Amino acid sequence: MLSTLAYNDRNLAMEMVRVSEAAALSASLLVGRGDEKQADQVAVNAMRRALNALDIDGTVVIGEGERDEAPMLFIGEKVGTGRGPKVDIALDPLEGTSITARGGANALAVIAFAEEGGFLHAPDVYMDKIAIGGALPTGIVDLDASPAENVRNLAKAKGSDVSDIQVCILDRPRHSELIAKVRESGARIMLIGDGDVAGVMATSQPETGVDMYLGSGGAPEGVLAAAALQCIGGFMQGRLLFRNDDEKARAAKSGVTDLNRKYELNDLAHGDVMFSATGVTNGTLLKGVRRFPGGAVTHTMMMRSSSGTVRIIEAHHNFVKKPFIA
Ligand code: FBP
Repeated sequence: MLSTLAYNDRNLAMEMVRVSEAAALSASLLVGRGDEKQADQVAVNAMRRALNALDIDGTVVIGEGERDEAPMLFIGEKVGTGRGPKVDIALDPLEGTSITARGGANALAVIAFAEEGGFLHAPDVYMDKIAIGGALPTGIVDLDASPAENVRNLAKAKGSDVSDIQVCILDRPRHSELIAKVRESGARIMLIGDGDVAGVMATSQPETGVDMYLGSGGAPEGVLAAAALQCIGGFMQGRLLFRNDDEKARAAKSGVTDLNRKYELNDLAHGDVMFSATGVTNGTLLKGVRRFPGGAVTHTMMMRSSSGTVRIIEAHHNFVKKPFIA
């Protein structure tokens, strides 16, 4: 019997859990194996297979790259059986390829759905990002304000000292000036090696101790992080950064007309958004895949913007009853 889910069918959100789980389970086989490419490839294969089993008329808008450079899950690729609702898809089957290759923390398999037109078609360039958690008044921080101003305003809004504020930043040479300025402001810093989707999401999870995210990372990851914040709550701005004309041309191809535009959260992801991330390795948000003879356990955070419900799903997979296909 054919099932034709509506976009707002709550089962669709549950279905997407299987998609991120599949990618994480496959990638987990490559944890610490020193092979980023293979880890990414198995995650892509598994995510694509799981997506194509869904009754959706899906289009990948944030994917593995442009058609001529990514054989699978490329931007524009149609996925799903074609029988269900039209869905725009932002995905990163393995967010943290080098984390996975060295067995580090915070690698995730990530996927988000929106109704047609719900995601910015971000080119694969860098994006300057600022994010803070939810439940705060608007206008506290701004991409164009100095790190000191942002730290001071956030501390004031939270009723804390600036020394209580912790800023998460990707540990990159390009951030040396930013890091120095944040240190000068009196705030503390959590430097992360990779994985800024988890870094941005951490601002909305008080138990992580991260109050603000600052710095540049991938623009596609910016859209995924915005999708998560639309569900979980939070504030984010982003601006595309271009290193050369080729990157500007990529942006033009994606439909970007104003190269200096400051994107608000709603410009990055809007409408009825659904998000699912499964831990590949242990991290601040989720536990990684635990494998054992005949099965594995996965941890997934699944949420919907329309209800604001956040589900943490611990799944026990039985490979004896349902053999695992890598
Ligand atoms: P990959 O999984 O594609 O390797 O991305 C990891 C990541 O750390 C992202 O989270 C981040 O947005 C981007 O790389 C930063 O890029 P760069 O490593 O060039 O600074």
